[in-house]
Amino acid sequence: MPSNPGKSFYVTTPIFYVNDAPHIGHAYTEVAADVLARWHRQRGENSFLLTGTDEHGEKILRTAAANQSTPKVWADKLVEEAWLPLLETIDIDNQDFIRTTEPRHERNVQKFLQHLYDTGFIYRGSYEGNYCVGCEEYKTEADLIDGQGDFAGISVCAIHSKPVEKLQETNYFFKLSEFTQPLLDFYEANPKFIQPESARNEVVAFVRRGLEDLSISRSKEKFDWGIDIPWDESHITYVWFDALLNYITAIGYGEESAELQQKFADLWPASVQVVGKDILRFHAVIWPAMLMAAGLSPANQVFGHGWLLVGGEKMSKSKLTGIAPNQITDTFGSDAFRYYFMKAIAFGQDGSFSWEDLSARYQAELANGFGNLASRVIAMVHRYFDGVVPEEFGLEAVDLHVAEVAKAAAQNADAAIEAVAIQDALNSIWTLVDELNNYITVQEPWVLAKSPENKERLATVLNTTLEGLRVLAVLLNPFIPKATAKLWAALGDSVGELATQQIQNAGNWGQLTTGVTLGQLEALFPRIEAESETK
Ligand code: ME8
Ligand code: MG
Repeated sequence: MPSNPGKSFYVTTPIFYVNDAPHIGHAYTEVAADVLARWHRQRGENSFLLTGTDEHGEKILRTAAANQSTPKVWADKLVEEAWLPLLETIDIDNQDFIRTTEPRHERNVQKFLQHLYDTGFIYRGSYEGNYCVGCEEYKTEADLIDGQGDFAGISVCAIHSKPVEKLQETNYFFKLSEFTQPLLDFYEANPKFIQPESARNEVVAFVRRGLEDLSISRSKEKFDWGIDIPWDESHITYVWFDALLNYITAIGYGEESAELQQKFADLWPASVQVVGKDILRFHAVIWPAMLMAAGLSPANQVFGHGWLLVGGEKMSKSKLTGIAPNQITDTFGSDAFRYYFMKAIAFGQDGSFSWEDLSARYQAELANGFGNLASRVIAMVHRYFDGVVPEEFGLEAVDLHVAEVAKAAAQNADAAIEAVAIQDALNSIWTLVDELNNYITVQEPWVLAKSPENKERLATVLNTTLEGLRVLAVLLNPFIPKATAKLWAALGDSVGELATQQIQNAGNWGQLTTGVTLGQLEALFPRIEAESETK
């Protein structure tokens, strides 16, 4: 499905638990979603990125209590001191941030619940099962593994490596089992709904085994940090049922105003919902079933990305293996953070972070490959043409080849983003970085500059490389917006506003205004002192 300018692109991240501060796993999801949103915005689409925090449930209540706090005070503190600052740290351009404790969310969760209750999708029943508070989910035997260390001899949650708790409750149930076949039909009719392919196969196999009804409330006798069940105030809403609804309450679901109704109509169904594979089933099974029950369309796509691993295990808050994003950005900057995780790991697969790899790529790809290219070209225009953008005096085959590589890079990167193959998009763009470096090495403008009779050829070569930089700035803007803004500032009056440059036109050659003077280029990726490279 090609995207069209003017249409809406709605992308979401999970809303994160406020039990602790973010680590680079959360930042990874944010960056991926932000790159997609910025790319589609650069295509001229009405691009909307939603992120936020998940603040109800037993896990948050227990964390607050353990910190001698109340859940709301604790959530406020974590949002202010950790989760909002994260967005600054890694340069996220989100259009909204939703907290599940906001009235706009709570009242419309209740509206949704009441609607499902009135239409017969919710009933009262009882249940007994093994609950993992870390996951906020009942676990089946297949979800448990043998415990290690302190928990040797007992079964533990495979994700959290902690014991589950036996719960027996009378509460309200959502008729999820009725959606087994409708979901299978939906997956069949929408083969791209769950991506990547491996994730899709796993979910389809899971649903084929048949779904059980889902407990969606907890008695207030157990704990009371959640949204009241509207028809029975002795119960609160199951945290996942509450949390999943953020994707629609944030954009106006249930609201009366014409403006919000229009917003909801424009943005839903979401184009892509980016989640980690740990929570794929909630998003690819429970969530579309909830929407179907309410007569709403599921999202167009749920993308379950892989895990950042530490010592072969999922990096996690609960296992204290988290690395804080600013440990990386303080040294390397937000652009390098964004670039590194999108380039080093195929989106959809697991990956291991390493300081050595980050440092090596920073030096080789960002500082030498791209940064030096830009600074050399701009410096040569200043040196040989007093900073004035030279015109070209007839393109030779080698110059036309650069133009072709640029065009192909733009087209291939666009197709890759459409397929949510973010790493492939960067690889496509990098064909132009490599081509330009190669072109300069072969054309040797510094040699041409020695003989006045080569002045026209020198002008053509520098014009060609400047055009290449223009294309790179546009294509890289969604990935490394700080560096591309600096480069664009140096291109100055030879180009329009960066925000208005469309991806679809970026590869068209000859867009620079010649005869105008370039600015100076600030260092894009400064040298990093050796001792801070590996912490
Ligand atoms: O699950 N590698 O919140 P959460 C990659 N509140 N991504 C990781 C990661 C890792 N090691 N660790 C975490 C919840 N993530 C619920 C979601 S949505 C309606 C409710 C990222 O704070 C990844 O996106 O446990 C994962 O799915 C998410 O953080 C889980 O965040
Ligand atoms: Mg988690």
